[in-house]
Amino acid sequence: MNQVALVTGAARGIGHAVAAQLAREGYAVCVNYLTHRDDAQALVSTLRDEGCRAVAVQADVADGEAVRAMVHTVEDTFGPVSLLVNNAGISRQGLFQTVDNAQWEHTLAVNLGGARSAVQAVLPHMIHEKAGCIVNISSIWGLRGASCEVAYACTKAALVGLTRSLALELAPSHIRVNGVAPGCIDTDMVRVLGEETRAALIAETPLGRLGTPEDIAHAVAFLASDHASFITGQILTVDGGYTV
Ligand code: NAI
Repeated sequence: MNQVALVTGAARGIGHAVAAQLAREGYAVCVNYLTHRDDAQALVSTLRDEGCRAVAVQADVADGEAVRAMVHTVEDTFGPVSLLVNNAGISRQGLFQTVDNAQWEHTLAVNLGGARSAVQAVLPHMIHEKAGCIVNISSIWGLRGASCEVAYACTKAALVGLTRSLALELAPSHIRVNGVAPGCIDTDMVRVLGEETRAALIAETPLGRLGTPEDIAHAVAFLASDHASFITGQILTVDGGYTV
């Protein structure tokens, strides 16, 4: 079977590691990016040098039309998408009282609307084939709630609902839908919080370190693999024990 993966927000951070791992496992990979064209192209070049199949495609996941166009580009390049990883996400710190309409709606549009558009764009072929896999990147903050990141936490909780509901709806079509809830992972999203917060997060993580993007990539690859063929509707928490 032709394995084709689309990873949203894959120029940097967790998405970058997920795309690299999947490509090295034999998937033809679409590295979606919003603005970091050079990073996306550099990853694609590295993977191609290793003999992997990869292409970088720009699209704002908040724009449903752009997502559909991206999926068509992937289909034309590699064939239909068999694995979708909804990774693109944004977060912003601030008291709930200060969240204005634009900020609220943009967070929902990217984190939840992006997943919705991407799933709807890849589903027709997956349903036709009665095969496929979707992995949504949620967050421990969507499971627990997060002070000063209410909009973000709401979207990540919604991705849990999306995962479980789609798993039920799509099971008759043999499409598995799972999620990963990362804990504190060493990417730009955590680095912007500053060194003091970063040190505090390490101290609060039982395994005594931040996670790496590769820690999440391994979880995604497992959920996408045949080793997980009886797993659907689950959220795999990868957090070094933070939420235990
Ligand atoms: P990051 O900020 O390094 O990566 C996010 C990626 O999404 C970036 O490449 C960004 O350009 C892309 N993106 C943002 N808006 C987009 C849009 N409209 N269209 C397409 N791409 C867009 O952060 P990180 O840590 O790699 O985050 C990846 C995912 O993991 C996110 O969904 C995040 O919420 C989630 N996560 C991260 C955690 C962490 O501690 N770093 C913890 C829990 C979840």
